[in-house]
Amino acid sequence: MSQSINQTMSKFYLTTPLYYPNARLHVGSAYTTIVCDVVARYKRMCGYDVAFLTGNDEHGEKLQRAADAAGVQPSDFVAEKRRQFIEVWKKLGIDYTHFVYTDQPEHVTSVQRLIRLAQKNDPGVIYKGQYQGRYCVSDERYVSDGTDPANCDICGRPAELINEQNYFFKLSAFQDRLLELYDKHPEFVQPDFRRNEVVSFVKSGLRDISISRRRLKWGVPWPDDPEDVVYVWYDALTGYMTGIGYAEGDEGSAEFQKLWPADVHMIGKDIIRFHAIYWPAFLMAAGLPLPKTVFAHGWIYYEQDKMSKSKGNVVYPEPIVDALDSFGAPGNDALRYYLLRDTPFGQDASFSYDGLVQRYNSDLANGLGNLASRTLAMIGRYFAGQIPSKPGTWSNDRDAEIEGLKKSVCQDARDCYDRFDFLRAMDAIWRLIAEVDKYLVEFQPWVLAKDVEKRERLEAVLFTAYDAVRSATLLAYPVLPYSTQVLWNQLGESSVLGEQKLDAQLSGAVPPATGTAAPVFPRLDKAEAVARLNEFADADRKGHQPPSEKEKTVETPSEGKSPITENAPAQPAAAPVAAPSAAPASEKISIEDFAKVEMRVGEIISAEPIPKADKLLKLQVDIGAEVRQVCAGIAQYYQPEQLVGMKVVLVTNLQPRKLRGVESNGMIVAASVGDEGRPVLATFKEDVPKGAKLR
Ligand code: MSP
Repeated sequence: MSQSINQTMSKFYLTTPLYYPNARLHVGSAYTTIVCDVVARYKRMCGYDVAFLTGNDEHGEKLQRAADAAGVQPSDFVAEKRRQFIEVWKKLGIDYTHFVYTDQPEHVTSVQRLIRLAQKNDPGVIYKGQYQGRYCVSDERYVSDGTDPANCDICGRPAELINEQNYFFKLSAFQDRLLELYDKHPEFVQPDFRRNEVVSFVKSGLRDISISRRRLKWGVPWPDDPEDVVYVWYDALTGYMTGIGYAEGDEGSAEFQKLWPADVHMIGKDIIRFHAIYWPAFLMAAGLPLPKTVFAHGWIYYEQDKMSKSKGNVVYPEPIVDALDSFGAPGNDALRYYLLRDTPFGQDASFSYDGLVQRYNSDLANGLGNLASRTLAMIGRYFAGQIPSKPGTWSNDRDAEIEGLKKSVCQDARDCYDRFDFLRAMDAIWRLIAEVDKYLVEFQPWVLAKDVEKRERLEAVLFTAYDAVRSATLLAYPVLPYSTQVLWNQLGESSVLGEQKLDAQLSGAVPPATGTAAPVFPRLDKAEAVARLNEFADADRKGHQPPSEKEKTVETPSEGKSPITENAPAQPAAAPVAAPSAAPASEKISIEDFAKVEMRVGEIISAEPIPKADKLLKLQVDIGAEVRQVCAGIAQYYQPEQLVGMKVVLVTNLQPRKLRGVESNGMIVAASVGDEGRPVLATFKEDVPKGAKLR
């Protein structure tokens, strides 16, 4: 899969997280890699020499336990899983250039080299210390310092007591340098709201972290002290360098010298602390260049609920692809398009089969597919497949308008891809498609074709439509690599679409004649398609035995991990958010009791995090006659900017109280969804005035 290196092109190095191979890849975890594949394909079309790395994070206690449970050696266990993961990436058409796994022999050299460099540059940066604390094996996190029993506040399981002498990294010494980094390079952590979270976390004070484990055998041996193994995150993050040749020679291979630092580490929001705080500190200590951007995307839920094996609602990508393929629809492309078009990149989103089929039908079958086949059919019928040539001048204002729109859409879509705003990139392309649809209805080529006098006009109309479809095909390629290649050939091009450069093609000449047309996106009957998706998913689940209880404890690697919580004290769960369960029949209340609760419509006018309270947001809510300050335990589910402008329901006659030292004067009403009690704020479908009373 490795690409040849062309020294004349600028490089672009992007990475997915390195996956824990103890759980099967699902749509949520595959999302990061799908996104990276889109970016890699886009960047290639922009002329970059792209290196795209993915891989597996194979060390750590979780993997060791999973191997023990399976009764095999850890190295055999991870090797088999690696094979399975590579199969999934193949099936999903992921065109990576580099695959790294942390059990590969060179990785030991890499990790030890990074540690030694840090020790050499600053002898005090790594020191030996005594650690005692509670550690959650499943979530790989310290739950509390000291020996008191504690449950993991993510998974709820009892945490184990750890008591060992190990190596510590002086993270506390990097606080100022990290803050300077975020300040001078705001692009280092993206999106902006994530950077703000990281900054306030770092400002609240960093503690040194232990970076070795004495009890563990399954990992990289500590340099010159093989009794210890290196902490999983120090180990895993270094994989981004091992995969491009850091272990070679004294300072890495020529390829490493060329590719490092990474241009983007694409990750999920749950692992931002490791990437945006620990990783730059480890690299600073070693005196190595820092990655340019860490981009943390949101979480993919299943029908508003967290995917969890125990709930049986984990969505796997392979049966989706198979089910859609079985209708002759391009399953991979449909899945990619849905994930990118329906998820504002960086925010959480909800996955549903219904939404997937809906999006496929409206945008692919009815949108791009329909426009392409109509246009090609008319060129076939009226011009025997000869593509009309571009008119010398635009004699009609609407033609010129479409040409102008096409140019601005090309620019918009590229700008959006550049800032990873995939949803808007798709929006832009489909704006062009919709406008050309209207244009065809307006000029009715089928009527023009009946009048020989109107031949020239017919040519101009069909050229305009053809040219727009061609541009849309080029621009949609990164998201729809398979179907756009088919369309590309139907448009009369014989080249490999992914090897084309956007600059040249978007302004380049069109071929003389079209290729053979055939439907690319057959329309799906929604009920039938959803039924088949469910059927394939069920069959797939049955083919994969449910895990034993023991295995379950090591499954779901990072589901439910919350961003940046490790050093923060445990918070009460969504304290001020009402999570009302239905009152039991015996506890019915009178209407008078209900009338005691005053609820009003309020508009959130500002929302900000509360330092050292990672679950709380401080909100200012305008209820017409006054603005109330309210603390709400929703920080892990809502972004501040998502909330501003939202009309919510506020209980206004509660006693004020203080949460984490901040006054809260009211309570926002929310539904409590799923086992974890995810709050979903109650709001209104139509506009209602601020201050209106609820009865
Ligand atoms: N091994 C670490 C990463 C080390 S990187 C040097 C890890 N692995 S993981 O397998 O648990 O997660 C891999 C990625 O999948 C993470 O970016 C995580 O955010 C992402 N996702 C897992 N479930 C997800 C969803 N439901 N939705 C979106 N992304 C999710 O963490």
